Amino acid sequence: MRMYDIIKKKRDGNELTTEEINFFISGYVDGSVPDYQASALCMAVFFSGMTPRETTDLTLAMAKSGDMLDLAVLGDKTVDKHSTGGVGDKVTLVVAPVAAALGCTVAKMSGRGLGHTGGTVDKLESIPGFKVELSSDEFFAQVKEIGISVIGQSGNLTPADKKLYALRDVTATVESVPLIASSIISKKLAGGSRHIVLDVTCGSGAFMKTPAAAEELAKAMVEIGTMAGRKMTAVITNMDTPLGVNIGNILEVKEAVDVLKGGGPADLREVCVEIASLMYASCFDCAADEARPKVLKVLEDGSAFEKLKAMVSAQGGDTAVLDDPSLFPAPQYSHEVKSPRGGFISHMNAEQVGIASVVLGAGREKKDDPIDYKAGISLLKKTGDAVATGDTIAVLYTDAEDKISQAEQMILDAIEFSNDEPEDEKLIYKVIV
Ligand code: URA
Repeated sequence: MRMYDIIKKKRDGNELTTEEINFFISGYVDGSVPDYQASALCMAVFFSGMTPRETTDLTLAMAKSGDMLDLAVLGDKTVDKHSTGGVGDKVTLVVAPVAAALGCTVAKMSGRGLGHTGGTVDKLESIPGFKVELSSDEFFAQVKEIGISVIGQSGNLTPADKKLYALRDVTATVESVPLIASSIISKKLAGGSRHIVLDVTCGSGAFMKTPAAAEELAKAMVEIGTMAGRKMTAVITNMDTPLGVNIGNILEVKEAVDVLKGGGPADLREVCVEIASLMYASCFDCAADEARPKVLKVLEDGSAFEKLKAMVSAQGGDTAVLDDPSLFPAPQYSHEVKSPRGGFISHMNAEQVGIASVVLGAGREKKDDPIDYKAGISLLKKTGDAVATGDTIAVLYTDAEDKISQAEQMILDAIEFSNDEPEDEKLIYKVIV
């Protein structure tokens, strides 16, 4: 078999065999297929697409390229949740303990933030002492004992995706449904959970900019996961404006704690209740409507919050900051961004707001950049809100005083104003099972 022939076949719009896809993935991981041939094939896939069977084969080959966790010893209610990325997206911090409080088993690996999107692992690490690296024995023992652990991705999970994603990032081949779907689902299959709930975000802060594009991706991922024997659910959610009020690591933990204590911003709460209901419904084979009152109950009675504390304590973190978030370290500077005019906020570019939070120190531009966990943004006004000239739209937090004016300008540039009240946007577009 020759890589040249595989590239040519896909370039000409033909379907690759399972053997050809396996040849490509194993060769790319062991180095016998060079980057230039892998990037040529990705570009051919970008233009020619893949059939569902090819995408499934690609996903399975990538999932099997490294370690695959077997969670069968943890029972049949193991559930994972994945977001395709967003700004202010602290949903995992809420839904993982909610699902565990309801009897689901959450043995989950999460990622770090990159670019304008945040990552759950960074948020958890902003809790003093919290360890995101556990040995496999520690991970399984904790899940058996308290039903929940969220850790960083283990070293040898889906090496094919690690290499391919980095390559796609620099060869303009990221935005391809079969390539995104195989990248995400290979990681979920290797993670081992039986039930998988996907939050496919759409809008200015997301990877898919329209509900139609998000739906195409969601359907592809549900189809592949189902073919691979997992119980799949996808929900398409609005990420046109940041989710909730806070962006930045400690700020987002504080907001997730608010939701777990029965409060929090309405949009974040609604998305969390929907996703946690879908996680429960998948594990216990019931309708999401039946799950919803149970989710609300564990938010109201504090048992989901206690689950978060149990996980934080088991992973070495300080639970005092969760009981009293004012104990979190405070940033040196805060700065209020004022509205330059009156009217309504008709649009807020979430990606630009996310980049402004990175400028303040809340995220990293390159993989190994340090993070200031205290840095971030609180949005006091969002899309749809009325504003008067001089109202505070956002508060910026940072230790880097010299970054404040740049971040302030970015926030102001990200906002569009109107004289008329804009129409309400949907928060949850569709559930796909
Ligand atoms: N997230 C991933 O993990 N992979 C992609 O290809 C895109 C988003």
